[in-house]
Amino acid sequence: MKKTALITGGAGFIGSHTADALLKKGYNVRILDAFTKPVHQYGIPGYLANEIEVLRGDVRKRKNIYEALKGADVVFHFAAFQDYLPVFSRYFDVNATGTALLYELIVKHNLPIQKLILASSQAVYGEGTYRCNNGHTVCPSQRSIKSLKKHQWDFVCPHDGLALKPQWTNEEAKRVPHNSYGISKVAQESIALNLGKRYSIPTVALRYSIVQGPRQSPFNLYSGVLRVFVTHLLAGTSPTIYEDGKQLRDFINIYDVVKANILVLEDARADYQIFNVGSGKTWTVRSFFDIVQKQLNSDIPPKIDKTFRVGDTRHIFSDINKIKKLGFAPFRRIEESIGEYAKWVQTLPHFDKLITSLGKT
Ligand SMILES: NC(=O)c1ccc[n+]([C@@H]2O[C@H](COP(=O)([O-])OP(=O)(O)OC[C@H]3O[C@@H](n4cnc5c(N)ncnc54)[C@H](O)[C@@H]3O)[C@@H](O)[C@H]2O)c1
Repeated sequence: MKKTALITGGAGFIGSHTADALLKKGYNVRILDAFTKPVHQYGIPGYLANEIEVLRGDVRKRKNIYEALKGADVVFHFAAFQDYLPVFSRYFDVNATGTALLYELIVKHNLPIQKLILASSQAVYGEGTYRCNNGHTVCPSQRSIKSLKKHQWDFVCPHDGLALKPQWTNEEAKRVPHNSYGISKVAQESIALNLGKRYSIPTVALRYSIVQGPRQSPFNLYSGVLRVFVTHLLAGTSPTIYEDGKQLRDFINIYDVVKANILVLEDARADYQIFNVGSGKTWTVRSFFDIVQKQLNSDIPPKIDKTFRVGDTRHIFSDINKIKKLGFAPFRRIEESIGEYAKWVQTLPHFDKLITSLGKT
């Protein structure tokens, strides 16, 4: 008999691509999605495959979750509130309370969920791992406004005053999130792994790095530099690169992320564990801009004028050795992520108007 996979947030970027992969694998796919703005500006997105059972509903609503869970064998919990807005309580309401409610209903109704995969984030680490010159490992908390105002971008060791060296951050690193989204993701994965273990619901938390590719809503302001650079260059305007552009980031293609999702679904060794899901490579923000510029055949330069945003991460890149041991091997090139995203964004309704407004953000 065919298995049924429920994907919360399945109309979104990662959810819809995962839905396509699950359909190919022979699953019935059901999504529960609130089609929230600003992510969804045009209602139900046209890219959702016809075979998907679409339930409109909110992960904060008991009735909606219960309806969606009935008859499901496996669950991908992707619905989340991601933004920079100072509506602090909403991050916890959607991301943490929604997750607790999901487990509450599975336990209450004794639902036979065989696997629950949760989308966590690299944001749980905040600044990630660094090493001092004396060899000590540190996970610093966010940079002070005072040091940013002095344009002192890098962390320095309080003992010798020398710059700390950024390291690959693995799953054992201390979690020092520095925004409400990151804190809610820590809460979300703690709730899921704890309740999963307690009630024998095989649970896996995946800490994605920055995911890129088509279907990532350009209205999602949390979606990062690819959206900013592409929309600016298409609009003919210069995007701002914050600080000095030397921030290190790790970007991963959506199709590699989908592979990781399916891998942990099918491998029982992943149960009750946390995995980083990244590309295993790093780029500076400036070098990433150069690649976008080349891909778009643009000669528009960026603005790099020491502007900064309080709360930005200096460097973060994830160590993926743990998931590699399960057989994960990211293979998509960054140029593919950029090219496919840029092509897709131009197919959106009212693209010209859209690009003019987004090219200013
Ligand atoms: N895209 C990334 O780079 C990235 C990185 C790390 C972690 N993540 C996590 O992966 C998951 C999926 O992210 P995405 O990039 O596909 O985001 P997305 O915004 O494209 O998709 C999220 C979906 O959740 C839905 N949703 C939001 N609130 C809801 C609610 N209360 N009830 C029901 N549905 C709701 C939205 O309508 C949307 O379709 C999220 O949990 C996110 O935190 C994403």
